[in-house]
Amino acid sequence: MSGERDELTLYEPKLLHELQFWQSPAKFNPPITAVAPGETWMKVRPLQEGDYDRGFLELLSQLTKVGNVSKAQFLMQFAQMRASGGYYVTVIEDTRINRIIGSATLRGRLEDVVVNNTYRGKQLGKLIVVTVTLLAKHLGCYKMSLDCKDNLIPFYESLGYVLEPGNSNAMNIRYDGQKETTVRNRPTASVILANATNPVDPS
Ligand SMILES: CC(C)(COP(=O)(O)OP(=O)(O)OC[C@H]1O[C@@H](n2cnc3c(N)ncnc32)[C@H](O)[C@@H]1OP(=O)(O)O)[C@@H](O)C(=O)NCCC(=O)NCCS
Repeated sequence: MSGERDELTLYEPKLLHELQFWQSPAKFNPPITAVAPGETWMKVRPLQEGDYDRGFLELLSQLTKVGNVSKAQFLMQFAQMRASGGYYVTVIEDTRINRIIGSATLRGRLEDVVVNNTYRGKQLGKLIVVTVTLLAKHLGCYKMSLDCKDNLIPFYESLGYVLEPGNSNAMNIRYDGQKETTVRNRPTASVILANATNPVDPS
């Protein structure tokens, strides 16, 4: 359960070793996976307790307003998420400088996808999205959803997501071979997850 630094991890790291990257339509050139991300100094892993000090919240602030979160608040939220299970915040670390450089959250929906702006354009966005997408499949979800900005629709399409008919920027990926239908706003997956900075949303 502990990370390499004997830190608590949010979920079982072994799960990431079980993902089958060949199942994703994403094209990586050169080929990379969560266990072999292409650089010896890069690690894809679950969120850890110590990530507060590795700039996790600073990275999220490139995506959204994070506000002031103390270490105690972060650790309390981490402990709550870990205890309740079903929380899959997945990060990419630059181990040379001990900084979190990418993150995506699986919450029955794909949320909070962000790569540090100095590391963009190196396939890491694809890597973290494919990782949590395969994780959802591995955990038994039949489908995963996301909302995205217009300009990112081609990005998610290249990873297998399909626009939901009649719902402009809602995209879904299905694992059960079924075609997407126009049903909107129904529960989409069996995994519920809150992101690391917001209160747990049990809905
Ligand atoms: C979106 C984001 C995660 C992409 O990360 P990245 O590491 O730069 O992406 P990759 O290098 O894996 O790029 C994958 C593909 O998407 C395309 N792409 C990446 N960012 C894009 C953008 N902002 N607009 C359009 N296309 C984009 C790339 O051209 C690339 O295409 P290719 O495979 O044909 O070469 C990153 O730009 C980011 O953190 N943005 C700010 C936060 C954000 O907008 N998050 C998404 C919320 S929906």
